[in-house]
Amino acid sequence: MNATATPPVTPAYSPGLEGVIAGTTKICTISPEIQSLTYRGYDIKDLMLNSSYEETAYLLLFGELPTQVQLCDFTTQLVSERHIPDAVLQQIQGFPKDAHPMDTLKAGIALLALYDVDKNNHSNDANIRKAVRLIAQTATLVAYNHRIRQGEAIIAPQGSDYSHAENFYTMAFGKKPSPVMAKVFNATLVIYAEHSFNASTFAARVTTSTLSDIHSGVTAAVGALKGPLHGGANEQAMLTFLEVKTPENAETWTREALAQKKKIMGFGHRAYKNGDPRATLLKGMRDELIAEIGDAPWVHIADTMENIVVAEKGLFPNVDYPIAYMYYMMGIPTEIYTPIFAVGRIAGWTSHVVEQLANNRLIRPKALYEGPKDRAFVSLSSR
Ligand SMILES: CC(C)(COP(=O)(O)OP(=O)(O)OC[C@H]1O[C@@H](n2cnc3c(N)ncnc32)[C@H](O)[C@@H]1OP(=O)(O)O)[C@@H](O)C(=O)NCCC(=O)NCCS
Repeated sequence: MNATATPPVTPAYSPGLEGVIAGTTKICTISPEIQSLTYRGYDIKDLMLNSSYEETAYLLLFGELPTQVQLCDFTTQLVSERHIPDAVLQQIQGFPKDAHPMDTLKAGIALLALYDVDKNNHSNDANIRKAVRLIAQTATLVAYNHRIRQGEAIIAPQGSDYSHAENFYTMAFGKKPSPVMAKVFNATLVIYAEHSFNASTFAARVTTSTLSDIHSGVTAAVGALKGPLHGGANEQAMLTFLEVKTPENAETWTREALAQKKKIMGFGHRAYKNGDPRATLLKGMRDELIAEIGDAPWVHIADTMENIVVAEKGLFPNVDYPIAYMYYMMGIPTEIYTPIFAVGRIAGWTSHVVEQLANNRLIRPKALYEGPKDRAFVSLSSR
């Protein structure tokens, strides 16, 4: 090598794209230094405590909180879109019962694309109509898939006297939630609704940045959400609490897990290194559940584990940690936890797709090549 040659410049590279700004958005801000999360400039705490999922979905999609008239119109649209085409229902009824619920959801969304009345219209107005439809239909798909999987009769969508949260809960679990449960469940959907450029939302934006359609973007997002490092963590966190079994076991289990360098699901976050505000807010609601349902060992297991992991590793619980035991206390089976995440996040995904397409540039980063170079081709007969 020529001694005077300038060494090659290594382009900026951040594993996992950590810290990389991959686009602009007006939908959500995450400010880890002050543990703050806002949707369209509104603090998540205000939205979680005061808004319905419908209001939050409207805010995400249109940028403003709805007036009463706008909310009434939006809710009416959502209710009228709760049904899915019979052809889709027939197909999902034939899905294998042992298929992963996130795979049946992914396939269900792909099927909805085939029957959407706007399937060949990719205008902004059509995308907003499809977004509204997808927000309503994702809840129906998840509820139907769950009941079919359990071998139970499906429950048709409820009418306008059921909020989005109540409608989903009733369709999936066969009973209307109590007011406290409806309030907490609504809060979890609001909290799950949006979180900036997380992996699934980014997958949706990458997909539609090719000018592909909104259903393709959501299908990609569902696939990304499935993994245990993302949406799958809520189910895994509950499975951990169930494995620990009793509060007495929690300390030993946690210390052993840390000694074995196991990843404990529900802890840590790429964006929040000093605590996830969503976890703190939801934990603040659990007393209402305890007052209604009674105490549960999971709460004590979770607290003991949290104290140890924070003290030993400086890792804090993320959103999925309190949701795991709160859903369990509400009688929600673990296998439907991650699909419920999608029932909430669909508002964020579709809002990001609409935003991406309104000012689109193909998302196509570079890679740092680390493989072999300058190899001489060897013919097949000589290998
Ligand atoms: C969320 C998550 C993927 C963030 O990943 P990240 O920003 O890439 O951080 P890393 O995985 O590199 O973790 C940094 C360090 O903390 C450790 N760590 C992170 N999360 C941990 C966990 N849940 N349990 C134990 N150790 C953990 C890592 O092992 C690593 O330790 P090391 O430096 O000794 O190797 C990660 O914290 C995780 O896997 N958490 C569990 C899954 C989960 O709850 N996901 C839901 C997110 S809302």
